[in-house]
Amino acid sequence: MNYLETAKWLRERLPATPKAAIILGTGLSDMAETFKIISSIPYSDIPGFAQSTAPSHKGNLILAENGEDTILFLQGRFHFYEGHSIKQVIFPTRVIAAMGIKTLVVTNAAGSLRKELYPGAIVQLTDHINFMGINPLIGENDDAMGERFPSMNDLYDPKYRELCDSIAEEYHIQVHKGIYLAVPGPSLETRAECAAFAMLGADLVGMSTVPEVIAARHAGMRVLAYSIVTNYSNLFHSEAHSQEEIRHHAGIASANLKQIISDFIRRI
Ligand code: HPA
Repeated sequence: MNYLETAKWLRERLPATPKAAIILGTGLSDMAETFKIISSIPYSDIPGFAQSTAPSHKGNLILAENGEDTILFLQGRFHFYEGHSIKQVIFPTRVIAAMGIKTLVVTNAAGSLRKELYPGAIVQLTDHINFMGINPLIGENDDAMGERFPSMNDLYDPKYRELCDSIAEEYHIQVHKGIYLAVPGPSLETRAECAAFAMLGADLVGMSTVPEVIAARHAGMRVLAYSIVTNYSNLFHSEAHSQEEIRHHAGIASANLKQIISDFIRRI
């Protein structure tokens, strides 16, 4: 299935072109349900979409109201560690781009490589390090979608980040800044790996986001991304963190992140 066909299929079913799309990461799925839902389509009904198998990833495409506008939520994403091909991982992003949506907000749960980034902290991404060992644009280039060698300068849109900084300030929401390093997973990082990543300049480590962001940028979308810190990495302790703990911390930050994102979309 080609993403253009899926985009056409969705356009025929959705009453309006959404102003922006948001990918909801681990523990953040419920955010979509706090908005007024116009329509909800299970991924299993969407031609070309894979099935989400990750914990707490629901797998629905949701069109919701946000003031005068509409937002498209991807409630759950496809991870490389689930065994999906990297093309399946970025398929929804390409569909969104082909639908004519110009703004993508990406969220995720991440481990902290810096003491100041405590569990529950909201971190705006300023840059990333692709340590997944794969690039989603490998293979024949779709010239209609984007160029062969797309620039990754200012990948996380500086104007968007600035706007979100002022929104966070207005609401007195503490937001940190950080560089996200993506690993393929699913095994968690060793302490030596965490030490190496911190030395490379990374503040956060996770198993997602980078493929979608690269694909979005390739397609000319403007990108904003946030991590919710769900645990300290092995750099600071050696206790295992549970999925329950990850969901708990994501839940705490979710309401604040919702405030920032919904105001942001209203103001762009
Ligand atoms: N490592 C990798 N991915 C993660 C982590 C982590 O510590 N926490 C949440 N996602």
